[in-house]
Amino acid sequence: MPLGFPPGGFESGLRYQPRSGDVFVCTYPKCGTTWMQYIVYLLTHGATPLAQTETLEPAFPHLEEVGGEIVAALPAPRLIKTHLPRAMTPFSAAARYIHVARNPFDCAASFYHHTRGFPQHYDFAGGTFADYFECFIRGEVDFGDYFEHLDSWYGLLGADNVLFLTYEEIRADTRGAIMAVAEFLGEPALATARHELKLENILAAVSFESMRKDQSRWSSERPADMPEFVRKGSVGDWQNLFAPSQVRRLLAAFESRTAGTPVARLWPDIMADARRRQ
Ligand code: A3P
Repeated sequence: MPLGFPPGGFESGLRYQPRSGDVFVCTYPKCGTTWMQYIVYLLTHGATPLAQTETLEPAFPHLEEVGGEIVAALPAPRLIKTHLPRAMTPFSAAARYIHVARNPFDCAASFYHHTRGFPQHYDFAGGTFADYFECFIRGEVDFGDYFEHLDSWYGLLGADNVLFLTYEEIRADTRGAIMAVAEFLGEPALATARHELKLENILAAVSFESMRKDQSRWSSERPADMPEFVRKGSVGDWQNLFAPSQVRRLLAAFESRTAGTPVARLWPDIMADARRRQ
């Protein structure tokens, strides 16, 4: 758990009893959580964007940070963020879960920038990617091991109340991803997405350019010389950080840890690229 999270929030978050209509956005960190949260928020709020000075957090809190009581007090449909692995996430057939996965290379790169960018939470402002990589590959980072986390959630593939998307899919076809989320949520989100002007408004609001503005909507302040929270928003930025030996080690981990599971088939192009660069 991030050091800044109160242990009481974690314990109470685990005890939360999901209600009918609850919508969880479930991710390993840095895999497109905030992006998906904002898509869900807009679909459930008639496509009305947050004001420049508003923050997403009160309407879409982080369960294991704020605790179950605050989440239970939200108006229905409750919108809930979690980075917990599947076995720790309060689960109910009456609630809906949207899982977003991101390839491990870009996830590690983004997590590195995140970790050095929050000196108030981590003692890592001067940390190198080489240092961070060793923590990531050992699974000794916030929310534990990337592969265990992903595998835990993909065990639910095919469940009616869980939607699986990847960061890369959302980026390649944002309109299609928004429609898939709206169909999964049903009415009134679906009517919002089928309204052409509202859909255009959502697309504009969740674009990288738009989410880069007024970043206090998503995240607490960072020092001016540190990477911003909505940072690059690309696929392949890992190539700027990874040494060939690190590519080889993470690729080998991906291949051995996901063999025979649906996760092994998620990113064929990225894995082929990694094979060429190791
Ligand atoms: P990068 O650091 O690679 O840029 P999370 O919300 O899970 O912490 O994920 C953060 C990552 O999602 C960051 O990746 C961030 O830039 C990216 N992101 C956030 N909003 C985005 C958007 N509208 N389009 C593309 N990427 C976005």
